[in-house]
Amino acid sequence: MGCPGASGPGPRAWVLRLLLGLAAWRGGAGGRSPVCGCCPGPARNGSSVASYCRAHPALELRGRCCVGPEPGAIVGLDLGNCSLTLLCAGFPDASAAVVIDLTENPLENIPNASFQGFTRLQSISLPLALECPGGSMAWDRITTHRDSRTCQGQRNPCNSSGELAWLCPENSLCSPDGPGLVQCLCAGSYHGYKCLREGTFPMLLFYGILGAVTTTLSLLAWGTQRRKAKAS
Ligand SMILES: *[C@@H]1O[C@H](CO)[C@@H](O)[C@H](O)[C@H]1NC(C)=O
Ligand SMILES: *[C@@H]1O[C@H](CO)[C@@H](O)[C@H](O)[C@H]1NC(C)=O
Ligand SMILES: *[C@@H]1O[C@H](CO)[C@@H](O)[C@H](O)[C@H]1NC(C)=O
Ligand SMILES: *[C@@H]1O[C@H](CO)[C@@H](O)[C@H](O)[C@H]1NC(C)=O
Repeated sequence: MGCPGASGPGPRAWVLRLLLGLAAWRGGAGGRSPVCGCCPGPARNGSSVASYCRAHPALELRGRCCVGPEPGAIVGLDLGNCSLTLLCAGFPDASAAVVIDLTENPLENIPNASFQGFTRLQSISLPLALECPGGSMAWDRITTHRDSRTCQGQRNPCNSSGELAWLCPENSLCSPDGPGLVQCLCAGSYHGYKCLREGTFPMLLFYGILGAVTTTLSLLAWGTQRRKAKAS
């Protein structure tokens, strides 16, 4: 599950967030994400994704994706009948998807972590051989058909009255992070490993040092250039 000792936003986490933000922004360029072309052809007519997309006039089908208005987040993804044994690269671009179809594929196993960040997912159809992402407890309704399984209504794993009830360390708050997955975010001014440190992150100090180093380097470079210029 997603919680090996919660930590506050350290500098590395910020860099990571920036990169993830950029990735999400790229993913936001909806229909142009490689995941929409991961399998040839359009979304299958009659798939849950195509029906969902037709039922919402603001959405449109692009390749295997159903995308929202520009910047076009991926709202639906139909990768049915794609001969997939593994999920395509670019699958995380669909983390804002509400409906996903992976049926009629020789998929063997999908790690639960593949759905990290898929907090809006409300319906996913899979080959019958696969369990629902995050386990059956992560969903409200599970229906099986001849050769597929549909998992609907993602449960909130942070709901303390539900069976999933996930415990975050003291000083941290539970936040859903996909089917059966949670994030423990440090509360208030706590930060660091398991949110055990209190006080604001010394951001000023960090940027102060960064600024001082940059200034020194530029002054050095400027000095060197000037000396070179004088000598010539
Ligand atoms: C897909 O289905 C819709 C209605 O369900 C129909 O209007 C449309 O012609 C179909 N398209 C194709 C390519 O079969
Ligand atoms: C699956 O795809 C193949 C071609 O890739 C096609 O011939 C076949 O009709 C498709 N099956 C279904 C059920 O859509
Ligand atoms: C996903 O998580 C559930 C619940 O914790 C577990 O039962 C299942 O084995 C996990 N599946 C995989 C593929 O790791
Ligand atoms: C929390 O779980 C309970 C029992 O499963 C359910 O009745 C309730 O609607 C859930 N609340 C939220 C906010 O998901």
